[in-house]
Amino acid sequence: MFNNKVVIVTGASSGIGAAVSLLFAKEGANVTIVARNLAKLTDIGKKIEATGKKPLIIQADISKEEAGTVISKTIDHFGQLDVLVNNAGISSQGSIMNGKIVEAYDEVMKTNVRAVIHLTSLAAPYLAKTKGNIINVSSGAALRPSKEPTSASYHISKAALDHFSRCAALELATVGIRVNTVNPGPVDNDFFTNNGGDNSLKSDHKKIMEDLTALGYLSTNEEIGRVILFLASDKARSVTGSSYCIDSGILLKY
Ligand SMILES: NC(=O)c1ccc[n+]([C@@H]2O[C@H](COP(=O)([O-])OP(=O)(O)OC[C@H]3O[C@@H](n4cnc5c(N)ncnc54)[C@H](OP(=O)(O)O)[C@@H]3O)[C@@H](O)[C@H]2O)c1
Repeated sequence: MFNNKVVIVTGASSGIGAAVSLLFAKEGANVTIVARNLAKLTDIGKKIEATGKKPLIIQADISKEEAGTVISKTIDHFGQLDVLVNNAGISSQGSIMNGKIVEAYDEVMKTNVRAVIHLTSLAAPYLAKTKGNIINVSSGAALRPSKEPTSASYHISKAALDHFSRCAALELATVGIRVNTVNPGPVDNDFFTNNGGDNSLKSDHKKIMEDLTALGYLSTNEEIGRVILFLASDKARSVTGSSYCIDSGILLKY
């Protein structure tokens, strides 16, 4: 489905990003994988290489100006760009009343929103050439306020990401680029512990999240990845400016 298309995936060192990178490679794509942790990226890179598609590995912090090299190195290496998956994301804790919301907001927005805007602006000229598309990995958090006050900045960032995606979809439609978001609910991966959650509470956290969903189970990384592949493919050629929820029905119930 993606034979010799070139795909960039940020946040590819774990979770959804690692899974979707592998799925793209299995469908014939050349993949650039990006994250800060080189050891984890190298491990994922080996799994991708086993599909016969050698990935370009770029260690970069996308919240910093060095993110610009992600696009230029991909073009130098693969010669074109067809799909940009802005998947890297973090959460940071701080509420209005505990006095830490500004700190949390600044940290989260740099990665979850500013970096996406930065990479979009650098990628757009190349995506216009291939009539490519962008998938932004948002969250169900974009669609409702946080019930946990300390997570407010995460919800704000994902709502901003959805709205940026709609603005970008409208502007970039003029040059043939589609822009969509996927909005996962709880996913069975390490996002909770990677973002300061207590590892010893991981299984309790999983059970709590399962009980909050209508279906009673969490999504897998691959399930989110398959929706990303659909939106990135020609099967979705008339889909742009959309937010696709994959959340086991958590928004229906909680
Ligand atoms: N898990 C869930 O329940 C859930 C639900 C809804 C939405 N999401 C969204 O899904 C996306 C992927 O998260 P995940 O669930 O797969 O969790 P994850 O395993 O924690 O993945 C996050 C990825 O982002 C990378 N990353 C974070 N900050 C970065 C930075 N400044 N520069 C480059 N890479 C950075 C991390 O790699 P390094 O640490 O190596 O840089 C990691 O590969 C995120 O946008 C998240 O908000 C997750």
